[in-house]
Amino acid sequence: MICMKSLFGKTALITGAGRGIGRTTATMFAEQGADLVLIARTVLQLDETVALCKTNNSDIRVLSVPTDLAELRQIDRLFELVDERGMTVDILINNAAVFASGRSREFPIDRFQHLLDINLLAPYYLCQKVMPMMDRKRWGTIVNVSSLSGCFQVTKFPGFGAYNISKYGLWGLTEILALENKERNLRVNQISLSGVDTQMFKQAAPPGVKADLTSEQVAGEILYLASDESTPITGGNLILDGKSRHWQSDD
Ligand SMILES: NC(=O)c1ccc[n+]([C@@H]2O[C@H](COP(=O)([O-])OP(=O)(O)OC[C@H]3O[C@@H](n4cnc5c(N)ncnc54)[C@H](OP(=O)(O)O)[C@@H]3O)[C@@H](O)[C@H]2O)c1
Repeated sequence: MICMKSLFGKTALITGAGRGIGRTTATMFAEQGADLVLIARTVLQLDETVALCKTNNSDIRVLSVPTDLAELRQIDRLFELVDERGMTVDILINNAAVFASGRSREFPIDRFQHLLDINLLAPYYLCQKVMPMMDRKRWGTIVNVSSLSGCFQVTKFPGFGAYNISKYGLWGLTEILALENKERNLRVNQISLSGVDTQMFKQAAPPGVKADLTSEQVAGEILYLASDESTPITGGNLILDGKSRHWQSDD
């Protein structure tokens, strides 16, 4: 159980905060006292998330920046704004992602590149941006939000190729960053999910597959991984498959 205000004094950057898991995570982090930097493309959805966070906790600072993570220059601009506001990021939640369906042998290469830009390159670049800030405080946590689609020995679905490949890459990012930053009190972990009842699930769910997780359950686990409650774990892949909660290394 996370204590109230367990994120007091921390600033969390959450991508994909306009709806779904990202929005629920933002409102939960607000309850726990975190200042927030919220990212998505759709301004109206971001504004709604900001209002929900402020309702949960009117004492926190919330900076929302409409940003397309496919554009590295927009990420640079985001950090200029963070800097101008005198904020430094302690917690990064790489949650935003897109899904696109299509068989790998004919999937257009420009769509593949675009999906990788959002699902993999942007998380990588965001990590590069925040780690120097975390180094200065000698404290930092990064949580990458992944999928069973990016885990070994789990049933896969035809047409998921681009998405699956991006999530396998995310595991590589989690693993190497955890290893390289172990001595710096900078922890990097991942959560891998089965179906969660969100807009993405409605778009992507294969026939007959039901969502077996709620965004509240997922946000609670992201909070656990982001906070000191999960110290000293780093390089972990926490798998939530609807029936069980286990670490990849337990397999
Ligand atoms: N739902 C599931 O069943 C499920 C299962 C396993 C893993 N996951 C993972 O959980 C995470 C969250 O998914 P979700 O289900 O909450 O999805 P969602 O409801 O579709 O929300 C995705 C969020 O990401 C933002 N986003 C997408 N493209 C972006 C871009 N180019 N730049 C900035 N923001 C962008 C979206 O806002 P805009 O469109 O306005 O930019 C939105 O706020 C993803 O990493 C997903 O892969 C989901």
